[in-house]
Amino acid sequence: MRLKGWLCVLVAFAVVACSGETVEEAEPAAEPAEAEAAAEPTPDEAVAAMQADCAAAAEAIAARQAESSLYDRLGGREAIEGVVTEIIRLHHENEAIAHMFEDVDDAALIASVSDYISEISGGDATYEGEDMVSVHTGMDITNDLFIAAGVDVQAAMVSLGIGENEIQEIMCHFASKHGEVVGV
Ligand code: HEM
Repeated sequence: MRLKGWLCVLVAFAVVACSGETVEEAEPAAEPAEAEAAAEPTPDEAVAAMQADCAAAAEAIAARQAESSLYDRLGGREAIEGVVTEIIRLHHENEAIAHMFEDVDDAALIASVSDYISEISGGDATYEGEDMVSVHTGMDITNDLFIAAGVDVQAAMVSLGIGENEIQEIMCHFASKHGEVVGV
């Protein structure tokens, strides 16, 4: 599945079940010239690849969600709060975006984002914050910051053992909101 390609690119630093290999078990590092040729995608390319793969996966995602809500498959509210707590912890450690979270009330943000994810995944919570454009206006979020934040979102779910389908669905929701948070 092509999606695994960018999932693996996003978490190239981590031990991930991309192909069942750990980083240590992967092919030996390429020679410098070869490595340069296989350079990582730019943030713009990574966003475009994410969006294309999510568009291709949309039907399968909808079919899965019709059968069982993403909320239930994530493990309900407690599991979602655990994921969000880990995302915010990683954001504070992420050089590219930590400054954006310096003055934020973590507990309030965790509660609010957990409501948001619960609601969009089919749970019964109601997100009571502002719409995504209003929340992110003026933050000057560029594609590289968008990808930096996405890496944390994905890494948090991988480290907490969230399933590959559920990770794809959350990441594709994240991708679907790109136009509401980048350049607004
Ligand atoms: C693309 C998908 C994204 C979604 C669905 C999303 C969702 C949210 C939600 C629900 C909140 C809570 C708002 C509130 O309670 O009022 C929030 C806050 C925030 N988001 Fe995002 N976000 C996204 C992307 C990003 C990115 C890429 C960044 C930065 C690189 C970012 C930075 C922030 C910050 C700093 C806050 C805290 C605002 C504050 O409390 O002052 N978000 N986001």
